[in-house]
Amino acid sequence: AIERTLSIIKPDATRRNLTGRINAKFEEAGLRIVAQKRLQLSVAQAEAFYAVHKDRPFYRDLVTFMVSGPVVVQALEGENAVARNREIMGATNPANAAPGTIRKEFAESIEANSVHGSDSAENAAIEVAFFFSGIEIVG
Ligand code: CMP
Repeated sequence: AIERTLSIIKPDATRRNLTGRINAKFEEAGLRIVAQKRLQLSVAQAEAFYAVHKDRPFYRDLVTFMVSGPVVVQALEGENAVARNREIMGATNPANAAPGTIRKEFAESIEANSVHGSDSAENAAIEVAFFFSGIEIVG
């Protein structure tokens, strides 16, 4: 089915001017960027977005990292977009990411791992709505 998923190009990647090269990976793999904006997240916004991880040991460092520079938030659309995007990103830890994936090519560490992607269709709907209103998404 045609799905939408929420993607974030993280501060380690925007800092290294990799937005275009990462977007090319999505487009070459058949996903369409149907909404996109560059933001400086506040601590409160990053905490809210990652609230699901609030009891994890890495939560505070994750929030600090996500506000360390600009992010590019985007809605990606395509056939099986949630799972497809996770294939394109590669494993969370770049040490385990397959060749050709974004994290294998660009990520610096498990924290500075260049991209976020929704992990389920249910979370994708929640995460897309966190950043975008209906009129900002143009399919
Ligand atoms: P992301 O898909 O954005 O979701 C949560 C993020 O926490 C994850 O990518 C990683 O960048 C980050 N993170 C940092 N440390 C860890 C860890 N030990 N295990 C999982 N995720 C981690």
